[in-house]
Amino acid sequence: MSTPTGPLPHTADLVVFGGTGDLSMRKLIPALFHSDMEGRLSPETRVIAMSRGGLTDDDFRGKVDAEVRSHLPVEDDGQWRRFLTRLHHVSVDVGREDAAGWGALAELLTGYEERDRVFYLASPPRTFGPFCRELEQAGLVTPRSRVVLEKPLGHDLVSAQRINDEVGAIFDERQIFRIDHYLGKETVQNLLVLRFANAFLEPIWNSLWIDHVQITAAETVGTPGRRGYYDHAGALRDMVQNHLLQLLTLTAMEPPARNDREAIRDEKVKVLQALRPIAGGEVERFTVRGQYTESGDVVGYLDEPASTPPNEASRRVETFTAIRAEIKNWRWAGVPFYLRTGKRMPYRRSEIVVQFKDVPHSIFPGGAPNRLVLRLQPEEGIELHIMAKEPGAGETTLKPVPLSLSFGKTFTARVPEAYERLLMDVLAGNPTLFMRRDEVEAAWRWIDPILEAWQADPALPEPYPAGTTGPTGAHELLGRSGRAWHEEEL
Ligand code: BG6
Repeated sequence: MSTPTGPLPHTADLVVFGGTGDLSMRKLIPALFHSDMEGRLSPETRVIAMSRGGLTDDDFRGKVDAEVRSHLPVEDDGQWRRFLTRLHHVSVDVGREDAAGWGALAELLTGYEERDRVFYLASPPRTFGPFCRELEQAGLVTPRSRVVLEKPLGHDLVSAQRINDEVGAIFDERQIFRIDHYLGKETVQNLLVLRFANAFLEPIWNSLWIDHVQITAAETVGTPGRRGYYDHAGALRDMVQNHLLQLLTLTAMEPPARNDREAIRDEKVKVLQALRPIAGGEVERFTVRGQYTESGDVVGYLDEPASTPPNEASRRVETFTAIRAEIKNWRWAGVPFYLRTGKRMPYRRSEIVVQFKDVPHSIFPGGAPNRLVLRLQPEEGIELHIMAKEPGAGETTLKPVPLSLSFGKTFTARVPEAYERLLMDVLAGNPTLFMRRDEVEAAWRWIDPILEAWQADPALPEPYPAGTTGPTGAHELLGRSGRAWHEEEL
């Protein structure tokens, strides 16, 4: 175990609802293990998984050993065994007055009231209210408790408000941590540092210098086995309402006065409130919906394996969306922010591309405007594309070349997974990277009219073959103003 730098971590009890589920096994447990290896978990911190599974502590530890260990760089068996002893399991059937289950949790927590207590709800949003009520009825909510809410937080503004009200009736806003794992990604953290710890960008970070911004989250995966969820979510709710809008707020926000939880979130929410509504007839002009279809060996959305056959909701749901957004304030008036996300695209890439304006007067033929690319994945890094002269005598030939910072190559330290960072922040009680109630609701307020217009539109999403960059409408969205998506020019 490496020696922790900084203050000693608090001892906490982390109770994970949905503790044997996919998120827990794929993300949370590995994140906790890495933190443990790096000495960032107090030795007494416990992880209590809650599920209906009827497992004992030993069963659960065996399951983690069998399913998770092989994905982790475990060098020392003793260390892994010690990590496993932190894990516990409690069976509870929520909503069925399962007194025995809640009693078992209470028994495990009794005597540890002075510890920080974190209830992590990695379960469907309809369970958030009931879980919180049952926790309170069982007397388990202490002043040192916090609750973590996984996305999706509702499916529209009204349902998000309902969940916020239900959770807010038990927990104070400062105890509520709404997670968006994109905020834990290293490049996202770096965006704030790049913007606010360097002087050269701020004077040109505005509509005088910037032509437009593109925010893309492209995935190669489809939705096998997830159609039940996805039919009712779609790309707009699943990716734009949260991840993409969060990236937009961090790109567009004003410099906060302090690096503190409220100052940063205050500035982010102002951006969401300044988004120009897209409603009614404008929705067709400024948004695009697509759904992937079969291509080669890859099945289309409607043929993805699922427990039920496709229905009308399946046919209408978008697996791709592109939107032209605008922020109505002094800094950004007239600068389009193009948002795009899709499943079954040809590459996995999440990035923010800031496209500067062209030089005011060009004396060389063949130039192209500067472009700053902040890549979140696959390889996290920052590139500034500048024009350079190709070596050689004769005519001056220009070529865009990247000034490039790859985090992996520049910093030798391991880049932690987003969940690792966020879990440590929850345990330390730092909510800066979590969404405040007003942020989530402002995002829904902007999304709702788009959803409504789509629902009212009899047209189905535009088809795009799996493995392509989305429907033609997405290219036209930029093409109309003579612009193109970043990769089309690579
Ligand atoms: C999740 C979405 O929030 O983010 C998934 O529900 C999506 O549909 C995932 O695949 C993408 O996350 P990442 O970190 O792989 O970009």
